[in-house]
Amino acid sequence: MSEKTGPEKQSGTQLWAGRSSGNLSSIAVEMGESISLDIQLYREDLRASLAHARMLAHVGILDRAELKAIGDGLRQIRQEIESNSLPLRPELEDIHTHVENRLTEIIGEAGKKLHTARSRNDQIAVDMHLFVRRACAEIGAVWIGLLESLSKAAAREIDTILPGYTHLQVAQPVRLSHHLLAHFWSFARDLGRLKRAAKTAGDLPLGSGALAGVNYETDREFLREELGFTGIYANSMDAVSTRDYLLDFLYALSVFATHASRLAEELILWNSLEFGFVHLPDELTTGSSIMPQKKNPDLAELSRGKSGRMIANLMNLLVNLKSLPLTYNRDLQEDRQPVLDSYRQSLLIGRALQAMIEGAVFDRGRMRAAVERGFATATDLADALVSERGLSFREAHHLVGNLVARAAEHGTTLAGAPATLREAVSPLLKDDEFYTKAISLSASTERKVSAGGTAKHRQEEQLQHAGRELEVWKDFDWRSPDLSLASEDR
Ligand code: ARG
Repeated sequence: MSEKTGPEKQSGTQLWAGRSSGNLSSIAVEMGESISLDIQLYREDLRASLAHARMLAHVGILDRAELKAIGDGLRQIRQEIESNSLPLRPELEDIHTHVENRLTEIIGEAGKKLHTARSRNDQIAVDMHLFVRRACAEIGAVWIGLLESLSKAAAREIDTILPGYTHLQVAQPVRLSHHLLAHFWSFARDLGRLKRAAKTAGDLPLGSGALAGVNYETDREFLREELGFTGIYANSMDAVSTRDYLLDFLYALSVFATHASRLAEELILWNSLEFGFVHLPDELTTGSSIMPQKKNPDLAELSRGKSGRMIANLMNLLVNLKSLPLTYNRDLQEDRQPVLDSYRQSLLIGRALQAMIEGAVFDRGRMRAAVERGFATATDLADALVSERGLSFREAHHLVGNLVARAAEHGTTLAGAPATLREAVSPLLKDDEFYTKAISLSASTERKVSAGGTAKHRQEEQLQHAGRELEVWKDFDWRSPDLSLASEDR
């Protein structure tokens, strides 16, 4: 792009000049182009054009020879784009114009007929709907991989006990399976949101024309069937102006990103010297250019950081749409940047987290030591004083609080506190057998027998439940559109 300032030189000729001269200044070209982003929609654009041509032939607006020429031309353009031999020209603005321009170069007059009964307004709308449906299927597959890695790690770590935290303070012992599955379920709900986003993008906007409908007896049901949509927009003005399906998509990705950032944050903490709960594989961490001892969890940090950007993408589009009058306004072209960006980031984050979970080596000894250092079974001891020694919970809480304070003063743990120290707090704490059993880690987790709790049989039950959930997602049909340009037209 030219950097020159001063009077704007004419810099491009529009294909559809119409009323205006068709001569655009360099600023109009530079600011107006969207091809640098919407080239990513070339498969959608070509497929929708083929469907439109077939529909025009079906209702008698194109003859068979014209349809055949258009189909062949579109296939050739696809090849040219995929072999990087179609030059992108900003003065041709967008993907639709590149395709129409090139088609006319290749097949002549018939190429100009393709734009009968459609507008770039319903074209970009149909491209974006097809894109969301395709993207949901791609993203869904990556997220399912992440779920799988979490459920596998959970099955392996069912006997690993670590502190469960509230306020980032050691709270109660839990099984590592439980902790990993907590993330599993939030990501599983993200898939539910993604599925709903794909569903919202299931209505066909094509056939709406610029806004009011078109002056031809077209067949939108034919188009719906061709492109695998489940429904048809009932109102052409709504169809060309709404972007709510993109908001649903960005919302689903933003919630995923916040969940991802929470898991990423824990991996960062756990990978620190201070926690030492996890070792991430070398190929997923980086060294420092100055400090030789460093092994930085960059992928986790980037996942955490990118979540901010993805939430901003949702806000970006919401603010763009707010107060926009019906129907198409050029502002809508700005939807490309947030949508395509969040799409790509979701794939990257999903793959990065999966790789980290698969490669993580959990330090079971460090986790166990942290439970003990953190007096994590203090609640269990208080409960035992209630159930076996007849104290009220308040009394028991007070007494165990004293014991913890003294143990901390002596630099020891509950398990390390000698009988003399315990007895000084209360004679009820003296009995070794009672005391050891009350503060045992495995006994503590085994007492959490409520449904959804951390007792081993509840974990086994939950792992099975997670396995069934995973199967449902693996079998789920995202109804990703078929974007191939199969040559059945003759
Ligand atoms: N390049 C436009 C976009 O991406 C296509 C629709 C243009 N429509 C128009 N009336 N200028 O949104």
